[in-house]
Order: sequence, then structure tokens, then C-alpha cells
Amino acid sequence: MSKTIEDIKALVEPTRIHRSLYTDPDLFNLEMERIFERTWVYLGHESQVREPGDYLTVNVGRRPVIMVRDKDGNINVLHNQCTHRGAKVAGKTCGNARAFRCCYHGWTFKTDGTLIGVPHKDGYEQTNFDIKDPAFSLKVVRSENYRGFVFANLSEEGPDLKTFLGDAASSIDNMIERSPEGAIEITGGVLRFRHNCNWKLFVDNLNDTMHPMVTHQSVGDACQAYVDELPEGAPKTNEADIISPFGSSYQMFDEMGVSVGPHGHAFTGGEESIHSNYMDIPGYMESMEATYGPEKARQILSINRHNTIYYPSLTIKGAIQSIRIVRPISVNETEIETWTFRLKGAPDEMLHRTMLYSRLINSPSSMVGSDDLEAYVRLQEGLMSGGTEWVDMSRFIGREEHPEGNMTRAIGTSDISLRNQYAAWLDYMTHEKEVA
Ligand SMILES: [Fe+2]
Repeated sequence: MSKTIEDIKALVEPTRIHRSLYTDPDLFNLEMERIFERTWVYLGHESQVREPGDYLTVNVGRRPVIMVRDKDGNINVLHNQCTHRGAKVAGKTCGNARAFRCCYHGWTFKTDGTLIGVPHKDGYEQTNFDIKDPAFSLKVVRSENYRGFVFANLSEEGPDLKTFLGDAASSIDNMIERSPEGAIEITGGVLRFRHNCNWKLFVDNLNDTMHPMVTHQSVGDACQAYVDELPEGAPKTNEADIISPFGSSYQMFDEMGVSVGPHGHAFTGGEESIHSNYMDIPGYMESMEATYGPEKARQILSINRHNTIYYPSLTIKGAIQSIRIVRPISVNETEIETWTFRLKGAPDEMLHRTMLYSRLINSPSSMVGSDDLEAYVRLQEGLMSGGTEWVDMSRFIGREEHPEGNMTRAIGTSDISLRNQYAAWLDYMTHEKEVA
């Protein structure tokens, strides 16, 4: 059933949204067309394609693309679709290729997309086919790289990447500055698993600070009991440092604050967050001071944001150097990828803590993320029922909000991040222009 602009506008009010945003397959298809296939979507980090020929494949919305480094060192983003009969020319999620040779009829493309080989070519004499015609090359997708973070945009319209990220880009800056060499790289593999829920339920949750003390109560209590039983003067553990804050009070989350900006972007936390009381790792501060000087090093490490959302596809935790990527599959299925970064020049213990955080909080077997997954699945099933038609997001509307650069800052347990996301959602969804 087709949806008019008026139909869509009727689903989003200032303090509530209609449940069908999470359950209607038609809206999901429109989201792919009007959001994921028309704005900046995160692909990967440049350190994943370090050598010429290194590539990875992902979907931008529903369209498969290849991010590949060519022999000149440039990172290209190409449609992963043979210009002969349309098969995906790269079949694996990542690898190294001198060229992409289609598995079906052997058409072969360079890593910049140029067609270089067609078997039994004389059959094309006296046809329109010309191997030098760019129409037969893999189509190049608009892409940009912000400090190593590569995004693609299937539309030629709209702002450049830096403008799109706006002041929220400072969370990426801070993650990079946390390296004593000012450089980071993806290390280790990916945690990739399917969530049986709409993609927006995951994104909604990132800056939801009213759920941890409820959803994560059991693990928070268990962790606190463990800490209470430690003998006087016993050393703290990284595990307790990481898990304990998930049981924090409403007051702590209020004080953490939340900032929202254009295009639906947002971050929770400032100097205070669930990451701000980790114990020092020997040698790290010294290496930071050696690079930046004591004052600048302290200033960098005083920024302890929790989740930053680059709506709709990328979420980062700069203070713990991990990212999660949102890859929608269908109206009630979403793949979430977690990747971890090494801070170049930092002690190995920093990377160990990052990995530990991912195992404890974000992995399928974690003690915290599995609580969230339970909530997402219950949300998806509950929202299908229709007993209540609307989803509330009214908390703290219009109260304790103030401008901060091109963003707005509010009390941490405000629903402002939800209201901001759905304002962006409505903006994207009610523009019917064609994708270029
Ligand atoms: Fe949670």
C-alpha cells in the first residue's frame, strides 16, 4: 500500500510516534529508499583496507557496495553489481583482490571499477558494447572519508560529509586524540549478530538513560555485591569498573546530560558518563602527556561521552574506542556489528580493556547487551499487538534545554534524543525527490 506524505506526517507528533514506524514493511521499504539510500551511511574504517586490493562489502540500505583500496592508494566505493547480467562481483564480506572477476561470465573489473576483461569478446562486434565505455564500468558511489571513517551516499544531493556530521564529529576527533600518536586502527574481528527487532529500536536505546537501572538491574546488583565483598584495600577490577555504572542512579544519568544536533545526531555524557571513573592504566597518561603536554592531555581525557549516534547508521563510544554499526535487514530484523579500535602508541592494556568492554557489554553472550536484546524483542512483539497505538517520547520536553554550538544540550534523562531522531526521520521520509 502506498503512503502519501500526509499519511507519514500523521504518524509523528511532537511527543509521540505511531507504533507502525516499527512494524509496517511499507514504511521499512520507504526508509531504505528515503533515508539509507539518500544520506551518508557508514561503510568502514580505512585501516580495514590498508593494502592495495583490500576490500570489504556492505549494503547501503538494500544496495550492495564494495569499499576497496586501489593500486594508487585511493579508497573507492563501487556498486557491487556486474554491468553484464547484474551479479555481485565480490561475494565475500572482505578480502584482497587484484581485480573483481564476476563468477557468472567472467567479466573483470579493476579496483577503480574499470572494465578490463570480457571473455569471447568477438560476439560483441556490431553491437553497442564497447569495453572502454564507462557505462560498462562498475558504478562509482559518492563517498567521503572523515579522519579514516568512510561513508557512502547513494544520492548526489545533500551536504558534504563534514557538514552532515556537524559538531557531533567532535566525538570522532576525541577518540582519535585519545591515541598518543593521534591515530587509531581497527583491531581484531567483528561481533556481528542479528537482532529480531526494527533497526530504530536499537538506535532509540543508545541514548535511553531511563532503562539501565531497570533493564540491567540484575547484573548491576550482582556486580555491586561482588564489589562490596572485596576485602578492604583489594585492587579494583576492569570488569567491575565496566559493569558497575550500568546500575547507576537516575540522578547520575540526569547529570550526564545529552546533546542533540541536526540530521538526528546526538551524544550522551560529557565529562561525566558511565566511562568516566575507570582506573588509570599504567603508562597511558605519561604517553599522552609526552605528546600533548599535561594540560591538553587532561582536556582530551576529560571528554567521556557515552554513545554518539551519527544517525542512522553509525554509533560510537569514543571513550572506550568501540563502534556499533546498524545494518537493517527487514522491518523486524537488524544486524548490529561491533568493531574495536587500538589507540596507536597506547599501552596494550588499553586495547585489552576495549575488548573486555565489547565482550561484557556488546557481545551476544554479554551480561548487559543480552538484557537490551530481550527488551528489543519484547518491544517488537508488543508493538505488533496494537493494544496501544502510540509510543511516548515526552519526557522533559521544552525543559532545561540550552544551545551548545550547533547542538542543543539537555538533562540526561530527557527524551530529546528521540524527539530529535524522529524529527530527522520525518524530514527524510517526507521528501519524495528521486535519488540521483
Ligand atoms: Fe541497555
